[in-house]
Amino acid sequence: MPGAVVTGWGIGLPDKVVTNEDLSARLDTSDAWITERTGIKERRIGSTTSELAVAAGAGALARAGRRGAEVDVVVLATTTPDALVPGTSATVQEALGIAGGAFDLNAACSGFVYALVTAHGLVQVGARRVLVIGAETLSHITDWDDRTLAVLVGDGAGAVLLEATDGPGQLLAWDLGADGSLRHLLKCDHGGYLYMNGKEIFRYAVRVVVESSLAALGRAGLTPADVDLFVPHQANARIISAAAARLGIPDDRCVVTIDRYGNTSSASIPLALADALATERLRPGAVALLSGFGGGMTWASAVLRWGG
Ligand code: ACO
Repeated sequence: MPGAVVTGWGIGLPDKVVTNEDLSARLDTSDAWITERTGIKERRIGSTTSELAVAAGAGALARAGRRGAEVDVVVLATTTPDALVPGTSATVQEALGIAGGAFDLNAACSGFVYALVTAHGLVQVGARRVLVIGAETLSHITDWDDRTLAVLVGDGAGAVLLEATDGPGQLLAWDLGADGSLRHLLKCDHGGYLYMNGKEIFRYAVRVVVESSLAALGRAGLTPADVDLFVPHQANARIISAAAARLGIPDDRCVVTIDRYGNTSSASIPLALADALATERLRPGAVALLSGFGGGMTWASAVLRWGG
């Protein structure tokens, strides 16, 4: 079976920065509360999901030295598509000149890891190149008068180009899970706003990230001590540090970008991954643990050995 390696990565972010002070000027909240309870200092707001996805995808293709015509499939993880139909991936497919197939995938904030694992499956059945994108505009489904959610969300996108290789590839093991009995904890009905039970999600989030990470690591024959870089979903800095502490992964091995981007749902892990690559925290041979959780509830972890 062919393996796959990430050969390029890119991001897409709106220009507009919204700081905690900006939000405090119109909502009953404060920079101190938001910083202490979530770790967020600012977030980017604006654009459409397809615009951000195209920017991220174009960056990944450019870094890999590839053209859209060389891509077999684009998988776009999003909970905030431009429209119900067609899939936002169709817009991305046209804009990037992708020759092959295109589909959206919704697994809430776990979406990028679900998409990454799916893309590896596509490579195993013959795809040579799969563009994997996580892109969101949560601002479009947020009630900006609801301080509990308005302070958390951000817009953005991250992408990787996955290419088939003759070697074993990067993905050592994965774990995908869901518990639909918890779907009431985080939801958005057609035409409505995002609702969440923050306290309950917090409780489950730490547990599922730890359990899912351990399951994926176990399948790879590794332990948390082998993890060089932990790239978690960025929902709350306290969730990240609680999960890392329970796993025994020190803070200096965790990627935290929530201070700059807020919670960007399925874009948060690829944005964090891109940050680690841009700052050279992820070097060839390093073991990276990606782990996310989100509405559904869903959760997903992937263990990668960088560089294949
Ligand atoms: N500013 C100021 N005060 C606030 C704010 C705010 N923005 N929001 C809530 N408060 C108040 C509450 O009213 C409450 O006041 P009270 O004690 O007088 O009743 C107090 O702060 C504490 O509220 P809690 O809800 O207990 O605060 P908590 O420490 O649990 O933090 C938070 C809330 C940040 C939402 C946290 O529970 C969390 O991060 N949960 C997980 C969220 C998550 O992971 N979501 C997943 C995905 S979200 C998505 O996909 C978009």
